[in-house]
Amino acid sequence: MGGAGRGGSDVRLLMTYKDGERPVIETSRLTLRRWTEDDVVPLSRVNGDPAVMRWIGDGSVRDEEQTRAGIRAMEERWEATGSGIFALQERATGRLIGLAGLWTPDFLPELLPCVEAVWRLGRSSWGRGFGTEAAEAVMRFGFQQCGLDRIVGIVQKGNDASENIMKKLGMRRERDTTDPATGRALRVYELTRAECRPVD
Ligand SMILES: CC(C)(COP(=O)(O)OP(=O)(O)OC[C@H]1O[C@@H](n2cnc3c(N)ncnc32)[C@H](O)[C@@H]1OP(=O)(O)O)[C@@H](O)C(=O)NCCC(=O)NCCS
Repeated sequence: MGGAGRGGSDVRLLMTYKDGERPVIETSRLTLRRWTEDDVVPLSRVNGDPAVMRWIGDGSVRDEEQTRAGIRAMEERWEATGSGIFALQERATGRLIGLAGLWTPDFLPELLPCVEAVWRLGRSSWGRGFGTEAAEAVMRFGFQQCGLDRIVGIVQKGNDASENIMKKLGMRRERDTTDPATGRALRVYELTRAECRPVD
């Protein structure tokens, strides 16, 4: 994987990132952008798939109203902090395929303060390197545009696809712990700005 292949390292921030502006990132095959009302239905399809949600929280799916509230919360975070979770759009089709971005893992107080990188794709988009491509763009956004020094990844044990993304990004195992709300086993990874390298 890489710039000339699946294109993970070819990340272009289209808009200068300043207060009040809406950042848009283009990678080889993806656009990362802020949310609109039109995203509610396609994202609720992603959130309503038990296979997608299997390793998220307690594994329960979310309906359209919960998805609408989630989009509102993501947009509120963008407005409040200038960073957040992007809508993920496939450039070739213009289709909304999921989400990726930065969040605060309030569910895991032992890690706070910190910023977590998150990613979630609809099942039809799995296995094509999109997850890694989006994750790499998010890391670069966090370090280069938001000025973060450290980003964590939190994965439930057994979610090998997501853990593989963390390894491919060069993230290091930081600790194993338990989700206090669900009792599920978690693995925490971390990456510092100095360690952030393009995926090869
Ligand atoms: C995790 C997720 C984003 C991965 O997206 P993806 O686009 O399929 O991932 P990639 O194609 O970039 O693959 C990443 C790596 O994991 C590997 N991989 C993919 N699916 C895998 C699986 N089910 N088991 C083991 N490895 C897997 C890939 O082979 C790749 O490694 P490689 O390049 O060395 O071959 C996607 O599966 C998803 O959205 N899952 C549901 C939501 C979720 O769990 N989010 C993360 C919560 S922590």
